[in-house]
Amino acid sequence: MEIIITKTYEDMSRVSAEIIAREIKRKHNLVLGLATGDTPIGTYKELVKIHRNEGLDFSKVTSFNLDEYVGLAPLHPNSYNFFMRENLFRHININPENVYVPQGNTDDPEEYCLWYEEQIRKSGGIDLQVLGIGGDGHIAFNEPGSSFASRTRVKALYRQTIEDNARFFAKIEDVPRFAITMGVGTILEARKIILIANGRKKADVCAEFIEGPVTSQITATALQLHTEATVVLDEEAASKLSRTEYYNWVRDHKHSVQKMIGR
Ligand code: GLP
Repeated sequence: MEIIITKTYEDMSRVSAEIIAREIKRKHNLVLGLATGDTPIGTYKELVKIHRNEGLDFSKVTSFNLDEYVGLAPLHPNSYNFFMRENLFRHININPENVYVPQGNTDDPEEYCLWYEEQIRKSGGIDLQVLGIGGDGHIAFNEPGSSFASRTRVKALYRQTIEDNARFFAKIEDVPRFAITMGVGTILEARKIILIANGRKKADVCAEFIEGPVTSQITATALQLHTEATVVLDEEAASKLSRTEYYNWVRDHKHSVQKMIGR
């Protein structure tokens, strides 16, 4: 894993948006995996800025979102569909036909999950997957104990996740108990992964998933098994890491190292 520690949330947002923009410029029909939550809001704002100021073109990009609450219709203000429209899609020139966010109010979630996986396959697979991390170490809604081989499916939310996400709802009882989520196995198939995290409240879980042992109890540790995973953190989220000096040295010397080995 490449660990990029930035000073502030704004820096984390800018650096992660630049990484995503670089991939879109490299491949115009990029298949982009997207995440929700507070963390990526700044990244999406930066991407919108790059689209407006530099003409970053999303017209051929296909996107797949990680997850959605079961029971919420796409127009529900707490749905991830709504979140994505408000924070990204309506500000860029992505073709709505190429946008996939799991549908929370589908009649047959099991059948729907199979269909979702099939759409990812048909698109050629995800080129770059953006991830955040939950307080319990989850990626998407892959709660503690999720198999590293898991695929898109319905998952029951862990108590901590329900409490963490209650801030978006009028009361905790309104938080859905289930979600449709890409599996850890689905995520690991992405060609590249970028996980972003910020703030002191993510410091412990970031130290655990970056420097701790691989375990399905903290599903973000699965990224240690991926050959092209990058983590972009602000200083607060990185404050409990023990090898910061090493990560910073690698970050600052990356280009000279690449030159030396002829890449
Ligand atoms: C939810 C989402 C995750 C996200 C996490 C962290 O549980 N399913 O994909 O990473 O929240 O959210 P935040 O960025 O608000 O801390």
